[in-house]
Amino acid sequence: MEEIIRQYLEEISGVSPSNREELEAFRVHWLGKKGIVTGLFSEMKDLPADRKRQAGQMVNTLKQAVLLKLEQHSELKKQDPRKADRDTDLTLPANFLELGAGHPVSIVGREMNGIFSRMGFTIQEGPEIEDDWHNFTALNFAADHPARDMQDTFFIEKSPDILLRTHTSSVQIRVMEGQKPPIRNIFPGRVFRNEAISARAHCIFHQIEGLYIDEDISFADLKQTLYYFASELFGEGIGIRFRPSYFPFTEPSAEMDISCLICSGKGCRVCKYSGWVEILGCGMVDPNVLENCGIDSEKYSGFAFGIGIERTAMLKYQIDDIRLFFENDVRFIRQFRSMHG
Ligand code: PHE
Repeated sequence: MEEIIRQYLEEISGVSPSNREELEAFRVHWLGKKGIVTGLFSEMKDLPADRKRQAGQMVNTLKQAVLLKLEQHSELKKQDPRKADRDTDLTLPANFLELGAGHPVSIVGREMNGIFSRMGFTIQEGPEIEDDWHNFTALNFAADHPARDMQDTFFIEKSPDILLRTHTSSVQIRVMEGQKPPIRNIFPGRVFRNEAISARAHCIFHQIEGLYIDEDISFADLKQTLYYFASELFGEGIGIRFRPSYFPFTEPSAEMDISCLICSGKGCRVCKYSGWVEILGCGMVDPNVLENCGIDSEKYSGFAFGIGIERTAMLKYQIDDIRLFFENDVRFIRQFRSMHG
C-alpha cells in the first residue's frame, strides 16, 4: 500500500488539471476497469475479515484522492472553459461557413440586365405558361408553322392552346398590348423546347428579350444597340457579325454571331467548327405584330432581339457543354464564386 501511495503522489504531481488527455490517462490508470484502485478493491475479497475494514478505508481514501484531482478539472472548466481545455486553441481558424456561389446564368444575366438598364431599357417579366396567341399567333406565326409542332413545343394538359413558352418573344405581345410607345424594355426569363439534350442544346434555357418601339426607329439603331451590348459584355476587341435570317415576327431579321472564345476561332464543338457562335436573333418588328397589339404601324416602328443566356455564358466563361448549367454539380458552380454580376 505504501508503494502504491508513493506511486500515486509521483504521478499526480505530473498531471496538469487543465490537460484533458493527461487527466483521462490518469483516471484510467487508477479508476478504470483494469485500474489500480479497481484492482485493490477486488484483491480485498481475499483478505481476512479483520483486515478488510482497514484496507477498505485506505483504498477508499485513495479513490477519493483520485476523484478530487478529477474534480479540480471540472472546477476549472466552470470558471473558464478555455483554461480547462488546452486542446481548444482559440487562435485556430473557425469552421468555415459554406459560402454560396452565384450560378453563371444569374451572373451573366445580371450583367446583361445592367448593360441594357444603362442604355435606358426597363426590366419586365412575363409568364412561363403561355397561350397560343402570345407565343405564336400574335407573333405572326402561320397556322401550319413547324414551331407549333409537338416536336418543339411542350403543351400542357393536351390542350393545343396552353403551352410552355418557347421563347421570351411572347412577352413582347403582353407588353405591347398593355403599353403605348415609346417602349424600351427587356424581358429576361426561362424558355422551354422539346429538343434532344446535347452539349449545345437543352430543353430548358434562358433568354433576354429586348423591345424598342418608337417613331423613326431603324435597323441602324438595332445594330448599334447590339454592338454596344456585345462590346460591353465581351470587350472592345470581340468579333461580331450579323447574318440575314428569318423570324415570322421581324422583317428584316438577322442573327448575331460572336467569334468563338472557347477555341479562339480554331474550331470546336460549341461553334460547330466554324469559329462563330450565334448568341441572338433580332430584327425590325413586323408591322403585322404591331397591328395585332393595336399599335399604329404607320406611325411607329421598332426592333426586337432575343439573346440566349447560356450560349453567352458559355463563351464568356469558356464552358463547352450546356448540360453543366442544369446538373448543378457544386464543383462547377463553385468556380464562379469570385465572379460578380
Ligand atoms: N424569339 C427568337 C428565338 O427564340 C429570337 C428573336 C427575338 C428573334 C426577337 C427576333 C426578335 O429564336
